[in-house]
Amino acid sequence: MSQNLRIALTKGRLQDQSVELFEAMGLDCSPIRDPGRRLIHALPNYPLEAVLAKAPDVITYVEHGVCDLGVVGKDTILEKGGSFYEVLDLGFGQCRFALAVQEGSDFYGTYKTRRVASKYPNVTRRFFEGKGMDVDIIKIEGSVELAPLLHLADGIVDIVETGSTLKANGLVPIEDVAQVSARLIVNTASMKLHKELIEDFIRRCEAELEKRREEA
Ligand code: PRP
Repeated sequence: MSQNLRIALTKGRLQDQSVELFEAMGLDCSPIRDPGRRLIHALPNYPLEAVLAKAPDVITYVEHGVCDLGVVGKDTILEKGGSFYEVLDLGFGQCRFALAVQEGSDFYGTYKTRRVASKYPNVTRRFFEGKGMDVDIIKIEGSVELAPLLHLADGIVDIVETGSTLKANGLVPIEDVAQVSARLIVNTASMKLHKELIEDFIRRCEAELEKRREEA
């Protein structure tokens, strides 16, 4: 466990908004803004090191305690699970999981076992288990929208943000599965070992989120 806190940030979509939030909390994030090929960045004015990682790895690092904190999407938390505290909804990275089908197709209008493609097989399984419905789930690694177009699947469960990817491919969302946004997660042992530092970080986060809510 590090002397300073260490936080794992999800690279890509959530990275910029995480940095904006931290800067608004008074943290100098210039090393993350200009990361080059470096993967670990010490912040100059706060006892925090930031690690940039893929979403599922953020959970792995926090679970193992090599990072005390993490910023990761609820989508990854729902899919991967794990043992950590989920302490704050950070309010950004908002989107939803939806079941989508080809326009005009009647997903529920048959007794045949449906095939559903997804990058999120656990989320998909639980969704249909909740309905008492038996479906075949096909795991796809990227651009899952292709699966119904190629007639591999009757539907997909995927992230919908603006809806433009579905629309561009003649697909329509027919049911919401879960709401998604970025979450702050904390290693369970770190919460005790670095109580004061972590509480300070969470307090700053909460204050900024409250300010944003008031301004909205
Ligand atoms: C996600 C998701 C959809 C798209 C939805 O993919 O899998 O394809 O975004 O966004 P929209 O509703 O705004 O069109 P992402 O771009 O994250 O790429 P990925 O396939 O690498 O996960």
